[in-house]
Amino acid sequence: MDWDKIRDLFPATKKFVYLNAAEASPVSILSAREAKTFYDEILTRGDLPWNEWLEKREKIRKKVVELINADKSEIAFTLNTSHGMNLIAGMLKRFGKEVVTMDDEFPSTTLPWLNLGYELRFVKPEDAVYSIDEIEKNITSNTKILVTSHVQYKTGFKQDLVELGKLCKDRGLIFVVNATQSAGAMPIDVRKANIDFLVFSGLKWMMAGYGIGVFYMDKEWFEKVDYPVAGWQSVRDPFLVDNRKLDLRKEASAFELGCPHFSNIFALGGALDLLNEIGKENVERRIYELGDYLVKKLEELDSELSQQIVSPLDRKYRSGITVIGLKNAETIVQELHKKNIVVSARGRGLRVSVHVYNNEEDVDKLMSELGKLV
Ligand SMILES: Cc1ncc(COP(=O)(O)O)c(C=O)c1O
Repeated sequence: MDWDKIRDLFPATKKFVYLNAAEASPVSILSAREAKTFYDEILTRGDLPWNEWLEKREKIRKKVVELINADKSEIAFTLNTSHGMNLIAGMLKRFGKEVVTMDDEFPSTTLPWLNLGYELRFVKPEDAVYSIDEIEKNITSNTKILVTSHVQYKTGFKQDLVELGKLCKDRGLIFVVNATQSAGAMPIDVRKANIDFLVFSGLKWMMAGYGIGVFYMDKEWFEKVDYPVAGWQSVRDPFLVDNRKLDLRKEASAFELGCPHFSNIFALGGALDLLNEIGKENVERRIYELGDYLVKKLEELDSELSQQIVSPLDRKYRSGITVIGLKNAETIVQELHKKNIVVSARGRGLRVSVHVYNNEEDVDKLMSELGKLV
């Protein structure tokens, strides 16, 4: 794989040492071009290409299907994780009130449930790891739903979805996953992991920019759940434009309520093309390669500091995120920013994310500046 060529597709890397995918990635030329083409078309032809745009959207839906091993009917385009998670919480109200979730979830994972009156039981981690045993201990006879991030934003801990999916199946729980910190970086197979519902945003590891998310629901649920929201595009034949008959299309795309956010969906299409060109396994391999390099360089720089890594380093639990425990992380982030090095302060320290647009030189530059600051 020619990683320099991939990097060249991200102009932001020319100026910045951008190690911040966990917050938001820059987009590639491919995504920017897709969004721009849409605006060029609407600029010069108004809405005449409507049917072409719809066709394009369906092609992109197919690419999402390949990314997570779903069926086309199981995918909806949303705006972000919060949007998707609200839909799920709204759909499952009849199934039970008690939800088991993890202690340091991002609020998009938990607030939609709290808002609808669910009771949340929080599992505590041990050294950032949520073991299947500990999760199981928190399940009661009232628990009906389990909600977790695939990768935790504060520590980078990656859950084994196949193991957790098996537990949910054995205990009869509805398994809901927030894949925002993994989709685009770590492989996901909704079938293998028995996932009932999954959501993610496009702006981080998908490298697709803002205003685009993905929602997945296992087709087993199509006829069982409530559809808490509906719009003119939610029905079987929207072009009947019938304002009296609610003939819902009982599949995921019923949640695409009105006219599509084409430009954002197309930007996601560009990002999926890039990921497909690189290949899922190569993406994951490169992220681990750069992550290992980062840890090695940190050990060389300051062995005490390397002991402060909060993220689990065991490959089973490892992701693209490395959090280095530092008390003054906020100040360090600001100082690094002055040198055009972009990282973030999260949880107990400095959060460094590595993705396919990064290289070893980025890590070296971070280490060189970090060495002066800590
Ligand atoms: C795990 C996780 N989920 C979701 C989000 C973003 O939520 P939303 O897509 O609703 O803006 C973030 C970070 O911003 C996150 O770390």
